[in-house]
Amino acid sequence: MPNIGEKEIIAIGNVLNDQSRPLKERFRALFTLKNIGGKLAIEQICKSFKDNSALLKHELAYCLGQMQDSSAIPILIDVLKDNTQEPMVRHEAGEALGAIGDVSVIPLLQEYSKYPIPEIAETCELALNRLKWLQSNDHAKNVPKGPYISIDPAPPTDIFDINILKKTLLDENKSLFDRYRAMFALRNLQTLESILALSEGLKTGSALFKHEIAFVLGQLQEEITIPYLQASLEDTQENEMVRHECAEALGAIATSDCFQILNQYLEDSNQVVRESCIIALDMCEYENSLEFQYANTLVKNNK
Ligand SMILES: [Fe+2]
Ligand SMILES: [Fe+2]
Repeated sequence: MPNIGEKEIIAIGNVLNDQSRPLKERFRALFTLKNIGGKLAIEQICKSFKDNSALLKHELAYCLGQMQDSSAIPILIDVLKDNTQEPMVRHEAGEALGAIGDVSVIPLLQEYSKYPIPEIAETCELALNRLKWLQSNDHAKNVPKGPYISIDPAPPTDIFDINILKKTLLDENKSLFDRYRAMFALRNLQTLESILALSEGLKTGSALFKHEIAFVLGQLQEEITIPYLQASLEDTQENEMVRHECAEALGAIATSDCFQILNQYLEDSNQVVRESCIIALDMCEYENSLEFQYANTLVKNNK
């Protein structure tokens, strides 16, 4: 990022925090602030935690985690604890605390890994495992570098055998951390077989697990996954976090079929799903025009 002055950062923050602006403009402003980084950008991002869009708020928390700046820890703790915030938003705050990698939050994550809302408890369990893994010696070795720049909730394993990875991925008796490690290893392999193994995961396990699978399929941007993503987006009984992530994955794949599917859910009865389709269609437009700044921010990197 070129040197950007305070005035410009505040002006971008004003776009993000203006409820009268179209949601897609606010998202673009958010990703610009994420790329700029620093205390002032973080202050601007935090202002929208009072918004009425859970989708926007969860993305704020996600960006704060990806920025890996410990000055965001206090606000993320407040969001995680705040039971007036939607579970999707609190989940992302917990995940962000794991992404930042500061071990001071371990006791809090321990407490919230027993929380009665599964998405929150499971997220905190994963974040806790990630921090413990960072503390251990293992992280310096044995972690193959993948092609993606996102800070993932779990590191990939150093296993490359697709059958073993698939077995772990789909085994509900295994720990979530191990299943996530298999998930990211399968993503990094980027073969037809590994992508199909991941797609099967969309029908197995908790809402949290399935939403992460959809996120990973969005990163992979493979047309072969469209029917799986479409099926979960169409399923009105499915958790909104899963449907949301499927919509955005379709936005990243961005074929004419994706446009058509996403357009069908712009009037869905669920606000998170409707808004996800708006953002996903904006991603589709970007993918097809390459006109804006999403390249390494939204399409590959949002959640
Ligand atoms: Fe998430
Ligand atoms: Fe998300």
